[in-house]
Amino acid sequence: MDAPEMVKVLEVKEETPSVSTIVLEKKVKAKYGQFFMLWIPDVGEKPYTFSRLDDNLEITVKRVGPFSEKMCSLKKGDLIGIRGPYGDGYFNLTGKDICIIAGGVGIAPLMPLIENQRESERERNFTVIFGANTKDELLFVDRIKKTDVELIITTDDGSAGEKCPCHEVLSRITKKRRFDQILCCGPEPMMKEILEIAIKEKIPCQLSLERYMKCGIGICGSCSLDPSGLLVCKDGPVFSAEKLINSEFGKYRRDASGSRAYLRYKAKCQNW
Ligand SMILES: Cc1cc2nc3c(=O)[nH]c(=O)nc-3n(C[C@H](O)[C@H](O)[C@H](O)COP(=O)(O)OP(=O)(O)OC[C@H]3O[C@@H](n4cnc5c(N)ncnc54)[C@H](O)[C@@H]3O)c2cc1C
Ligand code: FES
Repeated sequence: MDAPEMVKVLEVKEETPSVSTIVLEKKVKAKYGQFFMLWIPDVGEKPYTFSRLDDNLEITVKRVGPFSEKMCSLKKGDLIGIRGPYGDGYFNLTGKDICIIAGGVGIAPLMPLIENQRESERERNFTVIFGANTKDELLFVDRIKKTDVELIITTDDGSAGEKCPCHEVLSRITKKRRFDQILCCGPEPMMKEILEIAIKEKIPCQLSLERYMKCGIGICGSCSLDPSGLLVCKDGPVFSAEKLINSEFGKYRRDASGSRAYLRYKAKCQNW
């Protein structure tokens, strides 16, 4: 296993009351949806995707527990360990009309892809359906509006955009329009709804999964999916819908001890 490289924090940007972006003094090449293992000495090591790649690496973190709290309280000049990029499963674009669906901080790994819409020789049309609990939790909306994508916003409380979950918008649109592909990242119950629509409508779909990770490189088995044994760190974190049907996806995940933790949060909640 590679030892973490210690890199300097250049800036910490507060994006919303609960989300910050950490800018690192590091330029790196990675594929959309891959991740890095970030190490804070005496705190631990956890996986994070990147929200910007074209300049210094940016990692966008939602404060939910001890490690993410510590990440968000880093200061300019602090050092943090990084190894990666990891993951043989990443967002792989095919076709012309792409629907990108994100819930809450799930927009982070999709941002580099959205902003590089025109990088390929073949121009693509992106429709972005982005949901959050409330207006204050909508991230990167200004950045998205600077691109050419069609943006549809939804919130649970109706404080911005449509008052409904993302999957209801997808369901409505797919009755009138055909997408070549769906790319999705967000809370698992929301992604499960998206997967079911994609299967029903026969639209190729890729989803980014989160599982508890220790090694990040396929050694420890802590991120394996039942019953296939696919490893989220090695075979993912992005999987095609077919690999997730009839799996633990949308039902449970393993916690740090390896015990099953059943998903109890509501399907309509778009930001956990
Ligand atoms: C491949 C991969 C990429 C990831 N990329 C990112 C990323 O770009 N940004 C990011 O913020 N996190 C990302 N995560 C999650 C991250 O690794 C941590 O699990 C997360 O920051 C919580 O760690 P913690 O120690 O602070 O809290 P924990 O003690 O691990 O969790 C505290 C509680 O919060 C819940 N929780 C976990 N994630 C969220 C969430 N997003 N919103 C609300 N509640 C949550 C947990 O289920 C638990 O109940 C990624 C995970 C994986 C596997
Ligand atoms: S985190 Fe160790 S095998 Fe995936």
